Amino acid sequence: MHAPAEPQARRAILAAVVGNVLEWYDFAVYAYMATIIARQFFPSQDEVVSLLSAFAAFGVGFVVRPLGGIVIGRLGDVRGRKAALVLTIVLMAAGTVMILSTASTCTIEDVGAVGGRLWFQLYVYSDRGLTKALVERAEACGMQAVVLTVDAPVLGRRERDLRNRFHLPDGIRLANVPSSGSVPLPTGHGESGLANHFATGIDAGITWRDVEWLRSITRLPVLIKGIVRGDDAARAVEHGAAGVIVSNHGGRQLDTAIASIRALPDVAEAVNGRAEVLLDGGVRRGTDVIKAIALGARAVLVGRPVVWGLAASGENGARRVLELLRAEIDLAMALCGCPTVGDISRDLVAD
Ligand SMILES: Cc1cc2nc3c(=O)[nH]c(=O)nc-3n(C[C@H](O)[C@H](O)[C@H](O)COP(=O)(O)O)c2cc1C
Repeated sequence: MHAPAEPQARRAILAAVVGNVLEWYDFAVYAYMATIIARQFFPSQDEVVSLLSAFAAFGVGFVVRPLGGIVIGRLGDVRGRKAALVLTIVLMAAGTVMILSTASTCTIEDVGAVGGRLWFQLYVYSDRGLTKALVERAEACGMQAVVLTVDAPVLGRRERDLRNRFHLPDGIRLANVPSSGSVPLPTGHGESGLANHFATGIDAGITWRDVEWLRSITRLPVLIKGIVRGDDAARAVEHGAAGVIVSNHGGRQLDTAIASIRALPDVAEAVNGRAEVLLDGGVRRGTDVIKAIALGARAVLVGRPVVWGLAASGENGARRVLELLRAEIDLAMALCGCPTVGDISRDLVAD
């Protein structure tokens, strides 16, 4: 059995949030996702810094925690600004790459206007015209890669979403998906609006052929997110993927799914240098980054910690999370005797 690691940062942030705000905080965590890929995390490295972030905002209550007080606003806003935009600005300043989610409450155009290294995460809708238009918009806005998520053709059973009847409140919408037409939006008061959205809009029948279809409609490199097996990684490469992202969707899709760090060596071996291998999920410390690189990843994605930083202290909090990770990577490399990322070797991790 492989359970996803309990994120330490979550406990730390939760400890910083009090009383009834906890409930709102959980909404916020559920509603946002940000993923950063840190390849070489800091300028002293001999290779280029390459961070990547993915972000999805579904919108409900958002907790911002300034010193001495807690402000609850509309999820999607950090002190009056769209959280995805705030995060994009922070990440671009840090020299990172950000992946904008299909499900963002910010438009592709607004995020694209920030500039910098942006990738677009794609969910494939049954309405292929809509799906194609999303990719075309991302490309037109200067986004540099498409990340095709393949581990959520149907939504996992998210019991907290069911209990909370998770849905978008009035005034907040998935900014990139038309509010009318073939795709119902999660604004209803059913069991879970998100589950409803997936069940009615997302194509549950995607296959490897759809990777080829995607490649045929864009000149951007395609990375496949949600791979946890070597044989699937090999298929992804054979179907033209520029990279695979080893991920179990943060443990949110299937109970007892293998932890992505465990799946990584098998995937890296199967890819064998033919494409980029990135590790997603559970990266909370600099040592996690070192372990991922040692086991064959070129980069890691960091998701929730940045959102927790944003929740705890807005822009400064998100920036602080990056600084902490950067410092931890630096320290871990020094203590492992690795002056460069190229020196991080497999034998640093015990079998
Ligand atoms: C609130 C939330 C929303 C997410 N939304 C998306 C999404 O829209 N697309 C996607 O591919 N992954 C999504 N994910 C999964 C993340 O990309 C990532 O795989 C996961 O959070 C694991 O990384 P972490 O442990 O660093 O958070 C979401 C995760 C969370 C927590």
